Amino acid sequence: MAEVYTEPFPAASPAGAPPIDAFAREQYGAHGRPMSSGVGAANGGAPMLSVRDVEKMFGSRDSVTRALAGVSFDVGTGEFVGIMGPSGSGKSTLLNCVSTIDTVTSGHILVGGRDITALSRRQLAKFRRDDLGFIFQDSNLLDTLTGFENISLALTIKGAPARSIPGKVNAMATRLGVDAVLQKYPYQMSGGQRQRIAAARAMVTDPKLILADEPTGALDSRSAAVMLEIMEMMNQQLGATIMMVTHDAFAASYTNRVLFIKDGAVFNELRRGDETREAFFARIMEVVAFLGGEAGHVS
Ligand SMILES: Nc1ncnc2c1ncn2[C@@H]1O[C@H](COP(=O)(O)OP(=O)(O)OP(=O)(O)O)[C@@H](O)[C@H]1O
Ligand SMILES: [Mg+2]
Repeated sequence: MAEVYTEPFPAASPAGAPPIDAFAREQYGAHGRPMSSGVGAANGGAPMLSVRDVEKMFGSRDSVTRALAGVSFDVGTGEFVGIMGPSGSGKSTLLNCVSTIDTVTSGHILVGGRDITALSRRQLAKFRRDDLGFIFQDSNLLDTLTGFENISLALTIKGAPARSIPGKVNAMATRLGVDAVLQKYPYQMSGGQRQRIAAARAMVTDPKLILADEPTGALDSRSAAVMLEIMEMMNQQLGATIMMVTHDAFAASYTNRVLFIKDGAVFNELRRGDETREAFFARIMEVVAFLGGEAGHVS
C-alpha cells in the first residue's frame, strides 16, 4: 500500500520547497512544519461538477466491458475530492470522461451547470482549454522554456491579451512561492519548484475544475508530500475545485471527501469534516482494509 513512500526524506527541504507537515513527518520520519488544523473550503456551494448516471462501455458486441455502470455524484465548488477504488474499477475512465478525453456511452456530466456531453468538437476544445486544469504525475514542463514561459503558455493558448500575461504569471508564481525561479529553465529548478511551476500553470487560467490522475503515483516520498501540500494549498487558499484519482490512502487523506468506486459505480463515501488528517487517514484505511486490500494498487 505505502510502497510509493519507502524512501527516507532528506533532513532539509530543497531550496524553495514547502516544508512537509507533522503527519507526513510521522509517516516518513522527516522534518517539517506543524500540522495545519482542519480543512479549508470543504463546504462547497452549488456543484461545480455533476456526474449523472454515467455509463461507459468499451469493446464490441462480442466482448463488452462496462467500465462505468451508472455512476452519479457531485463535487461542490471549492471541494477537494479523492476518487479511490480497486484497479480496473473505472477511476481513469471516469476522469477521462470528465476531461472529455473520452466520451460517455450514456448519462450526463455537468461542469459549472453546463452539460459537457452535448458539446461539439470545437466547444470541447474550448472547454478543455478554458475550464479545466490538469496535474500530471511528472510536472510535464517544457524543457526549452523558462518557468515564466511555461506558465504564460497556458494563457497564450487561451488567447489572453499579451499585456495581461506578465502580471498574471507573476501573481500566481508569487502565491505558489516560485517567483524567484521564473527565469530558470526546468533543469535548473528543484523537483518541488518544478511541481509548483506546473501547479501555477494549471491555476493561472483560473480553471473551474482541476483534474489529477495519480498525481503522486510516480513520485518519491518527498516529492509526493510536496505535491499534496501544493494541491491542499491550491484548494484552501486559492479556492480551486479539485478531483484527484489516487490508490494511496495517504494522498486521499489530504482531500475533503473520498468517493470509493467499485465496478464502475460509487459504493462508499467518506467526508473529512473537522477531522485531523491523521483521523481521516485512519478511516480511509478502514475502508481499504474492508475491501481486503482491493482498493490498493494491485498492478
Ligand atoms: N480503451 C479501453 N478498451 C477496453 N477496455 C478498457 C479501455 N480502457 C479501460 N478499459 C477497461 O475498463 C475498466 C476500467 O478501467 P480503468 O482504467 O478506468 O480502471 P482504473 O480504476 O483506473 O484502474 P487502475 O487503478 O489500475 O488505474 C477495466 O476493466 C479496463 O480493462
Ligand atoms: Mg487508472
